Amino acid sequence: MTIGVQSPEIQDHFNKLFSSILMEQQKIDHVKTADEDKKELLTNKLKEYEQLKGRGFFYAFMASGRGHGPFVEMIDGSIKYDLINGIGVNLLGHSHPIYIKANLEAATSDTMMTGNLLSYQEPYELSKVLLDSVKASRLKHFWFSCSGSFSNDTALKILWQKKAPNYRLIAFQKSFAGRSIAMQDVTYNAAYREGMPSSIQVDHVPHYNYKDPENALKNTIDALDKLIEKNGNTYCALTLELIQGEAGFIFGTKEYYEGIFKWAKKHGIYIWVDEVQSFARTHQMFAFQMFGLDEYVDIVTIGKVLQAAGTLYTEELNPKPGLIAGTFNGSVASMNAGKATIRYLKDGNFYGENGRIKNLEDKFKAQFKKLAEGSCKGKIPYYGGVGTMLSFEVGDASNDTTNKFMKKLFDNGIITFSAGKEPTRVRFLLSLAILDEHINEIFSILEKTILEVI
Ligand SMILES: Cc1ncc(COP(=O)(O)O)c(C=O)c1O
Repeated sequence: MTIGVQSPEIQDHFNKLFSSILMEQQKIDHVKTADEDKKELLTNKLKEYEQLKGRGFFYAFMASGRGHGPFVEMIDGSIKYDLINGIGVNLLGHSHPIYIKANLEAATSDTMMTGNLLSYQEPYELSKVLLDSVKASRLKHFWFSCSGSFSNDTALKILWQKKAPNYRLIAFQKSFAGRSIAMQDVTYNAAYREGMPSSIQVDHVPHYNYKDPENALKNTIDALDKLIEKNGNTYCALTLELIQGEAGFIFGTKEYYEGIFKWAKKHGIYIWVDEVQSFARTHQMFAFQMFGLDEYVDIVTIGKVLQAAGTLYTEELNPKPGLIAGTFNGSVASMNAGKATIRYLKDGNFYGENGRIKNLEDKFKAQFKKLAEGSCKGKIPYYGGVGTMLSFEVGDASNDTTNKFMKKLFDNGIITFSAGKEPTRVRFLLSLAILDEHINEIFSILEKTILEVI
């Protein structure tokens, strides 16, 4: 423990509490249907919550707070494989010792939230460990915040200030950048900003076309050149997800990204990589490291797996005082968990070609291949992805078919989410707690559900 009150008595209680919580959570260790007497509880509470919230939920999902590894329990007593993990948050798995410890440590502190003006030790340590993991790049500073959207807003403000009055931004088709007033314009899907006034100037160019890889770079560069022809060089930056999450995990190659980044550098346009979803989930801690793009990135945003969010940037982009700040930037528990997660991932054998993440990806892909060429032939038109970000299509890959399939899969014991639109994909954001025995069971549930629905 680095902050808060400490004494032999507290340490003793801490140890006992830690092991008691872990032992109780570990009981959630298999798929299970709802308890008869609790079914109504879930239905009634959800109905009430839907009233409070003003809209329905896609799944009958209300978690009980009990879960372990890849398993999560609902308040009706049912237990399911969680293959979406709070949309990508619980990389280490439910009730991982790091998460329990981070919360207990935070309880010894005199405060719950931290900001970036009056500091505690936790954000300082988190910043140190994070910046230490990007040493091969020019990123030198870290500014934390509570959400991916806010970390993106921070990035945009930094870039705008640096390049004023060049406020135009280049983004990519099918991108997702969050829900803030600025980020809804960066996000490609117009349905997410229905009725909104456009508040910033964003131009979207095509991302990597995996169906036409040979011409992918040329098509993007042509679109970029056209923007400069039309608007002059009024751009501050180019922002992109190297692995497009909400699009269903579409990604290019090192050569493709290098081509775009060289174009940007030639035009004095800053490179902003949004790793809110991909952070810690690919073959390296950052996707830009996996593609070997360290030298190009000027600003990188992260979130989700970190249990916090934030913006990493170069010395050159360090903004003037007063531009960025905030009261609620992160909880002590989230700073604790973020720091410990990074240390754990860096020290363990998770990254690289022989790391646990690549190994998990290979095992999932091998199982998909077996299904697609075997009992489910013709029913899985696509599977792919990278690291713990995997997706697949079922049947005609329409919204209707995919939603029907996911709901049945939920009933059968697996939680997923969709991504992309026509083709709509079933998306996994896997946790590292998945073992071989789980993979076998997951694929037998998948097979059963595909044969039932498709
Ligand atoms: C690539 C990307 N950027 C930004 C965001 C927004 O993050 P948040 O929901 O934490 O605001 C997301 C969330 O899914 C994302 O996937």
